[in-house]
Amino acid sequence: MTRSPARLVVLVSGSGTNLQALLDACADPSYGAAVVAVGADRGEIEGLARAERAGIATFVHRVKEFESREAWDAALADTVASYEPDVVVLAGFMKLVGATFLERFAGRTVNTHPALSPSFPGMHGPADALAYGVKVTGCTLFVVDAGVDTGPIVAQTAVPVEDDDTTETLHERIKVAERQMLVEAVGRMAREGFTIDDRRVRFGS
Ligand code: GAR
Repeated sequence: MTRSPARLVVLVSGSGTNLQALLDACADPSYGAAVVAVGADRGEIEGLARAERAGIATFVHRVKEFESREAWDAALADTVASYEPDVVVLAGFMKLVGATFLERFAGRTVNTHPALSPSFPGMHGPADALAYGVKVTGCTLFVVDAGVDTGPIVAQTAVPVEDDDTTETLHERIKVAERQMLVEAVGRMAREGFTIDDRRVRFGS
């Protein structure tokens, strides 16, 4: 990263516990990153309230307010760009960003997913893992590409599946691991930089 602290824009769609973990980490100057704005695709969510309580700028772009998905994507990219992020973090953002956004922030947009990629991509990682009957699942932080949860992997943590798990109990256990993984990996990206060689992501310059 060229700037210290590294500037993070975080996009959320829900409760924002991953965002909160980043906000808490950023309170320590030695972490090396600062959340400069939080965006969402919907209003009245706890993720936005968390940002507001922390005194951080927020914005909302709802797909339905734009004439096309492409127009929404371009507006999202413009607003995110106005905050000059070093890294964009999708933390429970339940929309796929499009070509314009990806072009603008290629190689510096990361997403956290509640499954061990390449298993169980998409919106229902914990439910799909449970339905398949795996004994171990987990979470993955990856650099966003044009696919669905297919990008180069930055970090992963394994989480056991218990016999009596429901989707909710499993997802909550994954989220505990996920917050720790996200904070650790984003902090290293900010402090050490990172390279992507083919699909292999390494910290350091
Ligand atoms: C997280 O588990 C995140 O991985 C998941 O939503 C949750 C958001 O929690 N994202 C996806 O499933 C995206 N495909 P949070 O709002 O409490 O951070």
